[in-house]
Amino acid sequence: MYTQAMDQPDPQGGSLKAVRDAGADALQRGFDDRIDADRKVEPQDWMPEAYRKTLVRQISQHAHSEIIGMQPEGNWISRAPSLKRKAILLAKVQDEGGHGLYLYSAAETLGVSRDALLDALHTGKAKYSSIFNYPTLTWADVGVIGGLVDGAAIMNQVPICRCSYGPYARAMIRICKEESFHQRQGFESLMTLMKGTQAQRDMVQDAVNRWYWPVLAMFGPPDADSPNSAQGMRWGIKRISNDELRQKFVDATVPQARILGVTLPDPDLKWNEERGHHDHGAIDWDDFWAVVNGNGPCNKERLATRVKAHQDGQWVRDAALAHARKQQARALKEAA
Ligand SMILES: [Fe+2]
Ligand SMILES: [Fe+2]
Repeated sequence: MYTQAMDQPDPQGGSLKAVRDAGADALQRGFDDRIDADRKVEPQDWMPEAYRKTLVRQISQHAHSEIIGMQPEGNWISRAPSLKRKAILLAKVQDEGGHGLYLYSAAETLGVSRDALLDALHTGKAKYSSIFNYPTLTWADVGVIGGLVDGAAIMNQVPICRCSYGPYARAMIRICKEESFHQRQGFESLMTLMKGTQAQRDMVQDAVNRWYWPVLAMFGPPDADSPNSAQGMRWGIKRISNDELRQKFVDATVPQARILGVTLPDPDLKWNEERGHHDHGAIDWDDFWAVVNGNGPCNKERLATRVKAHQDGQWVRDAALAHARKQQARALKEAA
């Protein structure tokens, strides 16, 4: 009864609306105070709809990137050059699957279903990181993905451990620890190749040449072209801007490339004494947007592989549901 009462016409003319508005203002103030005090927002807390939607989009895109990201390297599991490399690569690719699962779970706490999220991925409505639409042509690509792609992912993801939304922040803490292992194994694999033959060194250089620019684009468009960034910063979802993160990555990568003995394919890359950072050349954003919008070298293949994997796994989901139903029926029978 009391629920209907809320919908009755208000004889005092508007005072009920005023009460509701005051309630909404108090909720918004509570949320703002929480953000200002750098306290976590939890699933049961009130949050503005735009904050919830932004998080669903970001966390699900992140989850999709993790599971699509299993493909370029998964490609090399059966062709790894030794048992040791195969074991490392298997562990790494499984980690990425696990990252996807934590993140889908975090997204579900915001009231969306996993089926809806996967459906958006499979129908091409949802985006994932454009970096995974490039091919892995040689074994050196696996090392470069670890060293550079996971290296960039760490730069991007460490600040998310301090994200205002509790479940996302906590998932990122474990993910970042695993990403650190991914980066190290990539670097070590490249180091081994660089100590090998000239052909192996050439293979590493070729892989670096192909991956370096798409990796720089992973940090997203320049700050001046990222209108949503300011709101993300205000909400404590984004902590460091795209350009700042990219700069940190370039500054960290230059000495690593020097130790490896590879050349980063940017003729404009140089130390700027005044800024205390490296200057770098211009990124080809047309290429980035073409890949984001579905026209990269492997977009169609990646999506088709994902959809097939999902369909092939249907019997597992059916069996798990049948088992759960059976257990539930047994429990009910025993309780009766
Ligand atoms: Fe990951
Ligand atoms: Fe990773």
